[in-house]
Amino acid sequence: MPQTDRLAFALEAGEITLPESGPVAVLRAEPSDFLRAVPADRLHCEQSDRRLFDRLDAAGLPVEPQLEVSGAALAVVNLTRSKAESRGNAARALRMLAPGGLLLLNGNKTDGIDSISREIGRSIPASGSCSKAHGKVVSFPRPDELPDVVATWAAEIEVSQTPEGDWTRPGMFSPDGSDPGSQLLAEQFGTSLRGRVADLGAGWGYLSRACLAASPAIAQLDLFEAEMLALDAARRNVTDPRAEFHWTDVASLRKTTAPYDTVIANPPFHLGRAADPEVGAAFIAAAARILKPSGQFLMVANRHLPYEARLDAAFRHRDQIAESRDFKVLRATSPRRP
Ligand SMILES: C[S@@+](CC[C@H](N)C(=O)[O-])C[C@H]1O[C@@H](n2cnc3c(N)ncnc32)[C@H](O)[C@@H]1O
Repeated sequence: MPQTDRLAFALEAGEITLPESGPVAVLRAEPSDFLRAVPADRLHCEQSDRRLFDRLDAAGLPVEPQLEVSGAALAVVNLTRSKAESRGNAARALRMLAPGGLLLLNGNKTDGIDSISREIGRSIPASGSCSKAHGKVVSFPRPDELPDVVATWAAEIEVSQTPEGDWTRPGMFSPDGSDPGSQLLAEQFGTSLRGRVADLGAGWGYLSRACLAASPAIAQLDLFEAEMLALDAARRNVTDPRAEFHWTDVASLRKTTAPYDTVIANPPFHLGRAADPEVGAAFIAAAARILKPSGQFLMVANRHLPYEARLDAAFRHRDQIAESRDFKVLRATSPRRP
């Protein structure tokens, strides 16, 4: 059962009830039967991941990448893999509620529903809990006065600078500083990159910034990133005027009229908690679609991830240009046209 359907189960089982009036805010919303049970004119969904945003939008559900709601009767927070992000979203949701409104935390055990609810419960007593499908929905009535710790939780998810000066926030890739795999790829950029460059899954912008700093002959660098919170951080980290920022699902990229000379990527390799090279395969296919026939694709991957067959399906030539104990940098050229 997807975790969002747990809410529909809890509703049907009478474990939770929809308030009769007032706005309903849902943070990290995903398409679900629960959302369809809420009257559309009262529903406010927040989703900053472009893929889920598009699915909610296509389903006709009201969705924004960043919600500003007040006086809500009910606020739901779907947990993510980042505990700090989930706790921060719980704080934001509490601030969106009218006094007496209800916060529902919905999450899998593997995403820490037990520990986060215990932590919040120490300051705001829980009023109920419904277990289903390896997770829980836990209810917290909003007190008249919010405890001071709520401001601390909310502040923790604001964008802030690492000791090295990079702007990041919890929940995004490598929030504590640049990733060693990305560093190995950046070391290969040299000074010869030119023309149009695309960074697929640009995160907070580490690779793009390194690429622009290394190569004065780059005319334009497009950062494509599905997570708006990461892209917003990238805008702060990559201030070179040759950079352009796109809130885009890489899988949706099509052959453009102005194709690229170079595509760079440190592709995602997790589906949930498991490493899965299929996730990166969509990046490889997109790179082949958007490159010039003479263009090159430079990517880094964990050494154990078998991307070679995927590269061979999408490109005529491929070689490994660098490696470290944990990572390999692969270069592919001559994209195959379908
Ligand atoms: C391994 S991280 C690399 C981030 C950054 N390039 C770096 O090297 O630090 C992969 C990034 O791809 C993004 N991502 C995952 N799937 C995506 C998709 N389908 N479209 C666009 N971005 C995606 C993730 O949000 C994440 O920021």
